[in-house]
Amino acid sequence: MIKFDEKRKLFSLYNKEFSYYFYINKLGYLIHLYSGEYLSDLDVERLTERYSERYAYLDNDKEICDESYYFSLQASNFECSGFNTADKRGNFAIIKNSDNSLLTDFRYVKHEIVYGKKPIKGLPHARIENAKNVETLIITLKDVRSEVYLELYYSIFDDLNILIRNSKIINKTGSSINLLKLSSMQVDFPYGNYNLISTYGTWSKDRQLEETRINHNKIVISDNHGARGFYHNSSIIIKEKDTNLFNGSAYIFSLIYSGNFSFEVGQDELGQTRLICGINDENFYFAMPHNTSFTAPECVMSFSSQGINGATHHMHDFVRNYILPKTFALKERPILINSWEAYYFDFDTNKIISLIEEAKKLGIELVVLDDGWFGKRSDDKTSLGDWNINLEKIDLKKVIDYAHSNKMKFGIWVEPEMISPDSALFRNHPEFALYNRNIKPTLFRHQLPLDLTNPKVVDFIYESISKIFRNYKIDYCKWDFNRYLSEIGSLYLGKDKEGEIYHRFILGSYKLLENFVNEFPNVLLETCASGGGRFDLGMLYYSPQIWGSDETDPTARVEIQYSTNFFYPLSTIGAHVSARPYLTYQDKAIISAFGTFGYELDPLKLSKEDKDKIIEINKLIKEWHHVVTLGDYYALKSPIEGNYASWMVVSKNKREALVFHFNFRREPTYARYIKLYGLDPDLYYFNSLTNTIYKGEFYLRVGLNISAPLNEGTTMLFILKAVNYLEKTIFEKKQMKNQQVRDKIF
Ligand code: GLA
Repeated sequence: MIKFDEKRKLFSLYNKEFSYYFYINKLGYLIHLYSGEYLSDLDVERLTERYSERYAYLDNDKEICDESYYFSLQASNFECSGFNTADKRGNFAIIKNSDNSLLTDFRYVKHEIVYGKKPIKGLPHARIENAKNVETLIITLKDVRSEVYLELYYSIFDDLNILIRNSKIINKTGSSINLLKLSSMQVDFPYGNYNLISTYGTWSKDRQLEETRINHNKIVISDNHGARGFYHNSSIIIKEKDTNLFNGSAYIFSLIYSGNFSFEVGQDELGQTRLICGINDENFYFAMPHNTSFTAPECVMSFSSQGINGATHHMHDFVRNYILPKTFALKERPILINSWEAYYFDFDTNKIISLIEEAKKLGIELVVLDDGWFGKRSDDKTSLGDWNINLEKIDLKKVIDYAHSNKMKFGIWVEPEMISPDSALFRNHPEFALYNRNIKPTLFRHQLPLDLTNPKVVDFIYESISKIFRNYKIDYCKWDFNRYLSEIGSLYLGKDKEGEIYHRFILGSYKLLENFVNEFPNVLLETCASGGGRFDLGMLYYSPQIWGSDETDPTARVEIQYSTNFFYPLSTIGAHVSARPYLTYQDKAIISAFGTFGYELDPLKLSKEDKDKIIEINKLIKEWHHVVTLGDYYALKSPIEGNYASWMVVSKNKREALVFHFNFRREPTYARYIKLYGLDPDLYYFNSLTNTIYKGEFYLRVGLNISAPLNEGTTMLFILKAVNYLEKTIFEKKQMKNQQVRDKIF
C-alpha cells in the first residue's frame, strides 16, 4: 500500500485501482506528482519538466545558483505549501512565531510507515486503529527557521480507494507560538481541467447541488457558523470536466469535522489546480505554548475512474465500515414515528399513549417524543438547559413502560448544547452562556449556545442529560442543535483566546457526544440541527443517522436526498413520511424508503384506507430495507438536469435492487429508458412493478422502459429480484402463475 523508493526519494501510496505519488526534492520539499487511476511507476523528471528556472538564492550576500538544478517554488506542486514563501498560491499552515514573524516553510526530516492509525483524542476519526487493510505514512517536517514541526499523516486502504490525511503542529521552540491556520489536506493537481460540485442551502432547503468550473479564480466553499452550517456542506466533489455519473475521474473530499471549515480551490497561473481544506482560518488563532501540539481533523478523499457513482461507492463503504458507531453501522434501523409534526409542543401522557397504540397497529417500531417534555417548555421560548421532566405534562415512565410492554422502542429529543435565557440554568449560571458581554447578543429561536469551551459546563450539562437516560429505559435520542454561533465570547477563555472559541466549542460538543455514546452505546442516536444543518462525518462518528431536513414535502425531499446521497450512505439520512398533502402515502413512502425510514404525522387522523396502505408499506420496508442499508447506490438521473430524478440501490451480491423514479412536471409519452447499473448481466430479474422478468443485460444495455405518460409527482419503485429466489417467495406469495413467468424467461 505504501512504498518508498530510497534512490528517487519517491513515495507511492497505492492499491489496485488508485495511486498517489510524491517525492522529496533536493531542498527537502514534498513535491506532489500524481493522484488518480493506478499507475505502476512514474517518471519524476517528466512530470516536473515544466520547471524552466534554475533555482537561485542569496547566501551570505552572494547569489548561489545550482546550474544543474531546475526548481521553481512558483510552479511546483506541493503536499503542504508554505506561507510567505515564493509560492503564492494558497497556504497549508500559518504560524506566528515568538518574534511575530509569519514565514512558514516546512522541509522533510523523517518518515515512518505503520499499520492502521492511532485514534485522534478528542476528535472524531476513521476507526482504523488495528485495521490490517490500512497503512499510514507519517512524515515529519521541520520549519526551516525554528523548532516547529509538522507531521503529515496519510492512510491508504488496500480494498477501498480512500486516502485519509491530517496534520499536526508541534511546538519545540522553547517559547509560545500562535497557530493561525492548519489545513488537513492539500492536493495539487498538476494538470487537467476540473469542475467542483458542492452543496449550498438554508433551513428547509438543505444541500442543493451546484456545479462550477474550476478556473483561475479561487473558489472558497466554507462555513463560519460554528456548527450549524446550512450554507455549505463539508463534502465536495472534484471531477475532471468531462466526468459524468458513470465514467471518468472523480474525487470526493469530506472533512471529519463539524466546526468551521473551508475548501479553497482554484487554478494557478499555469493552469494547475490546488485544493486546500480544513478548519476555516477565519476568526481562528490558537496559542501554542512550548511543547504542545495541535491536530487538524481528518479529511477523507475517495477516488474513482468510474465516474461520480464510483467515488460514492468507496465513500459509502468507508463511512459504513470506518466512521459510523459499530453497534448500528450495518444494522437496519427501526421504523420510527416522531411526535413533532403531529403535535408540536401540544401533547400529554394520553396523547402519547394513543400514539404508541396506533403506531403499533401500523407496524411502527419506535416512538419518539420530540421537543417539549422538560422544564416548562410549551413553546420554543424557554427551558433549554432545564433537563427535568415536566411531570404536569408527561408521565415519562408510564409512556416508556407502555411502549416496552407493547414491544416497541421509545425515544426522546434533547438539545444539550443550548441555553434559554428564560431557564433556571441561565438564572443560576449566566456565565455558562457563550456570548460577548460587551454587546447585546443576537438570539435565534430565543436561545444562546452554552460555553462548551469550559469543561465545567460540559460536565454539568452531561450530568443533566445523562441522568434522564440513567433513570429511564430510553432506546433512542434525537440530539438537536438549533442556532449557530455569533458574537462569540467566553468568560472562561477570556478575551485573549477568542480565536480558540469556535474550535474549542466543537471539541466540547464532541466531548458531550463521546461521553454519551460511551455510557449509552445501545441508545440509537440521531443528530439534527434544525433539520440537516450539521450533516457531516464528524456527527456520523457518534450518530449513525442524521435528520435529513425539516422539509418533509416529498417533492422537495427528492432533491435534498439526491444530493446528500452522493456523500453519505442512505442509512444515515433521516427521511420521514409526513402528512403534507401533495402526494399519496405510497408515493411519500417510496421517497422516504431511500433513507432511515419513519413518520412525522398523527396516525389518529389517518383514514382507514391510509392506515391499511401504511401497514402494507411498513411490511415492504422490513422486507427490503436491508438493500438500502447495505447496498451500492447509483445516481441515475439528476433532478437539476431535467424533469425527473432516478436512482437505484443494488445489494452487494447483485441479486436484489430497488430503482426509484420521480417525475416533476406532467409529460406525455416519450421514449424514456433509464439504463440501470450494478446488476449481473447474466441473471434474470423479476420486476415487481411491471410483473415481468428480464435478463440483467437488458436493463444494463437498453434500460428500464418508462415511456408511458407521467403525471406531476408520479413516483415509482421498481423492486428487482433475481429469479431463482423469486420462485420461492414472489411466486408463492403473490400467486403468480408459474406458466406466465416461464413464458417470459424462455
Ligand atoms: C428542530 C428540528 C425539528 C424539531 C424541532 C423541535 O427544528 O429540526 O425536527 O425537532 O427542532 O423544536
